[in-house]
Amino acid sequence: MSDFAPHFERLSGLLARHCGDWQRLPFACRTLPWPELAPVLDALSESELDALENNPEAALGLLAPYRPEITAEQHWPVAELKRASDYATPRWSNGIPGRKWAQIRDFAANITTRHSILEWCAGKGHLGRLLALEQGQAVTSLEWNADLCRQGEALAGRLGLEHRFYCGDALAPEAARLFEPAQQAVALHACGELHLRFLEHGTAAGTQALALSPCCYHLIDGEHYAPLSAAGRRAGLTLSRHDLRLPLQQQVTGGERVRRLRHTELTWRLAFDELQRELTGCDHYLPLPAFPKQLLSGDFTAFARWACEKKGLAMPAHIHSEHWLAAAESRRLLVKRIELVRHLYRQPLELWLLLDRALFLEERGYRVILGTFTEQANTPRRYLIQAHRRP
Ligand SMILES: C[S@@+](CC[C@H](N)C(=O)[O-])C[C@H]1O[C@@H](n2cnc3c(N)ncnc32)[C@H](O)[C@@H]1O
Repeated sequence: MSDFAPHFERLSGLLARHCGDWQRLPFACRTLPWPELAPVLDALSESELDALENNPEAALGLLAPYRPEITAEQHWPVAELKRASDYATPRWSNGIPGRKWAQIRDFAANITTRHSILEWCAGKGHLGRLLALEQGQAVTSLEWNADLCRQGEALAGRLGLEHRFYCGDALAPEAARLFEPAQQAVALHACGELHLRFLEHGTAAGTQALALSPCCYHLIDGEHYAPLSAAGRRAGLTLSRHDLRLPLQQQVTGGERVRRLRHTELTWRLAFDELQRELTGCDHYLPLPAFPKQLLSGDFTAFARWACEKKGLAMPAHIHSEHWLAAAESRRLLVKRIELVRHLYRQPLELWLLLDRALFLEERGYRVILGTFTEQANTPRRYLIQAHRRP
């Protein structure tokens, strides 16, 4: 039996049993969905909620008595894979930000191959270039942005490397032809559908070695996630794109300005939600799309006008901004209380998604290693799935 299977089964059970905790739209809630948590959550001030949001261990400690099962799953040891021996920056790495360079170096530290290399969704092909230098193998980098391909080719040319770019769409059927059996394929931070195709094509071609660091699980073609593994399909979880975003909801990093903007955005979105319920006479949440941050530098009336236009609602001649903003205050706290509970499931859900990929690879005849390839400070998306085809 696979080493991953028992853990996957446990996670599937946990996520299914507690779906009422994490499969929620906090914006759609007008009351706390868990009366038993009210005494502990309602007692938290906004600054305490913010502090807990930035300290997942403390949040877990606070809620552990009410959700003991989660605590056990959070401490599943994920292997720490190899790290680069140093992060020295060669001349050609000029312009690669420090954290990106550390990710690339750490990822490359886990690759040893005698085969040619395919780099999937390569950007300028920094990882491919480093691998071409370190492994002395020919590298093909797939990237659809022609400008990035040109820049990558120029850099490879200067170093005299056998590193070419294939400028094309990873989602087009012909991209499958880039995979070969005697090959090491790598994908660093390929978004949802892009890395699903990587796994599909790589396994179909019987590619010798696949190394993937997934990100943006929610960027998939369908409205719902289609599990890759047989165990995943048996688990019976229905994951929407909203659910798939959960592992990406990290603590707020960035300075005071970023925090202030997020505060304003949350408040204005909720104030608009209160307003639209009155305008439509319908007590249902109406989601607003993403918008340019400069909209937050005006006032709430201008924001409400934009939102009404987006949603095809007639904007009243005068709106009582203070009233709607005041109504948003208590809802903002409610959203933060609900998020605190939802976020307990970030790690279990991400592991579930990773294990679904790992089990799929095992089913296709691969030996799989799952672990972290770089430090959290370099990127929150630091899992690496390494698969080698069994002989
Ligand atoms: C998150 S970046 C990762 C780049 C690089 N692997 C890294 O980690 O620095 C994703 C890259 O995928 C490319 N990309 C997005 N959609 C693509 C598609 N359909 N076909 C090919 N490349 C695509 C983007 O242009 C971007 O360069």
